[in-house]
Amino acid sequence: MESFETVTIPSRDKQYIIERLEEHEHMTHEEAVDSVDELAHYYTAIKHGKNGSPSKMVDKAWHAHILNTQMYMDFTKAEIGRFVHHVPYWSGHQSNGTEDDIYEYLVSQLGAEHVNATVWVRDGAICENSSHSLGRCQNAFLPMRNPTDKKRNVFHLISRYDPFNYWMMCLDPFRLDAYEEAIRQHRQQKAIWLDIGTGAHMPLTRLLIKYETAEHVYAVEANREAYRFAKNLRECLSDEEKRKISLYGCYSNNIDWHAQDPRPNAIIHEIIGCIPLDEGCIKVMHDTIKNPNGEVYSCIPYKIGTLCMPVSRPKRSRISSFCSFILSSSMKIIKDVGIQGMFNPHKDAFLCETPQFIEEFILQDYVRKPLESHRVFKTKFIVEKRTGKWAGVFLAPHVLTSKDNRNGIAEIDGLKRMTNWPVRYVQMYYYQKAIDVKQGDEIHVVFESDLTKECPTYRLEAWVNNNYLLRSSFAWIGPAIY
Ligand SMILES: C[S@@+](CC[C@H](N)C(=O)[O-])C[C@H]1O[C@@H](n2cnc3c(N)ncnc32)[C@H](O)[C@@H]1O
Repeated sequence: MESFETVTIPSRDKQYIIERLEEHEHMTHEEAVDSVDELAHYYTAIKHGKNGSPSKMVDKAWHAHILNTQMYMDFTKAEIGRFVHHVPYWSGHQSNGTEDDIYEYLVSQLGAEHVNATVWVRDGAICENSSHSLGRCQNAFLPMRNPTDKKRNVFHLISRYDPFNYWMMCLDPFRLDAYEEAIRQHRQQKAIWLDIGTGAHMPLTRLLIKYETAEHVYAVEANREAYRFAKNLRECLSDEEKRKISLYGCYSNNIDWHAQDPRPNAIIHEIIGCIPLDEGCIKVMHDTIKNPNGEVYSCIPYKIGTLCMPVSRPKRSRISSFCSFILSSSMKIIKDVGIQGMFNPHKDAFLCETPQFIEEFILQDYVRKPLESHRVFKTKFIVEKRTGKWAGVFLAPHVLTSKDNRNGIAEIDGLKRMTNWPVRYVQMYYYQKAIDVKQGDEIHVVFESDLTKECPTYRLEAWVNNNYLLRSSFAWIGPAIY
């Protein structure tokens, strides 16, 4: 057999395409590399005169390449001998072949072991259990990639707080008790506190004053309405209290706290959001604490984390519908793959007894280290329900306001009690195609995050047992508010 000439993508082009796929398509590094390798195979097929379309992943890599026009033109002329045009699908387009044609062709020329079937999937569908010898089938499950192409920004979230939200937060007993407990424990050491995101009613600042734990409190609030309300509220306090509180209406990072006199040496906040880092908590804390001259000796909350629980498609309870209506969060249970907020989620949906942390931060320690751009956590759950349908996961906030939680008050666990922070339901499989699971099955979860921005990027990947090809992945950019 004659040697089959393959196309090579130069390393500079590869590096560029991989970076773009990671940054804009939220692919993992491995997926991006695989996509570029298969793009080279696609170019090979084109060079040999084969007609057909690329798979979705290959198409994304191709688009990225084309976008760099000079690089793409130089490459196609040098490697393929002509400029290769891209014709998107439209009503007047006559297709000469499909991605299957290209895939079958590559397998026949290169051998199945040299072609990555997971990249050549139709509509992102891959299935190991299929009768296809090549390990691929159609109409199976996802993976689905980031559906949020809107540019997200923490200020969108901040501007969404309304007076009603602030009242509800003040009426959330578990949340306030947990903070009050931590503040009570600080009675012995008076500090200069910084209350980041003090809210309309300044509940945490007022607790600090009430328990005499503060020599002074700097309270800062970025929501304009809330700041105005807080300003009026401050005017109504006694002179002694007023003297102890400085109120700022801006984003916390706009002020150099270390230049203040007296300089704050303790931080309190509740900028935690729904999956705990939604409000950019880690970056805000990092930027506030990182100054080496400043010593922050205390931080409330002490620890924050996200609990993960694999679930079947949840049912809608009356109370959760009511709360969602009141708090204007979408509550129709999604049919598609996606993410939504959910209050008081039903335990019926749990497939295991015990949730696991997929992220956990002791704030004061973590924020002193450089922010991680690619944090990866892998775990597995063992199904404990006799049988069930697995559709996705609940992600719930978990907060320890104080290290000392002897009486259990300092803990806020979104899966045990309803709080103002909704639990996130991430539906990973179309619900009609939810996966049948039974007791003893393993559900593998990989959670990745990029914490370098105020709006962190998250990616969840999950599959059952060793069926890695029957996996689903879902990526989103915080704040995940819908
Ligand atoms: C969950 S609310 C908590 C309000 C109040 N602390 C309470 O406990 O009821 C978070 C508040 O923080 C504000 N916020 C979030 N990030 C901020 C930042 N970096 N600087 C100032 N305000 C911020 C939001 O506008 C919002 O009012």
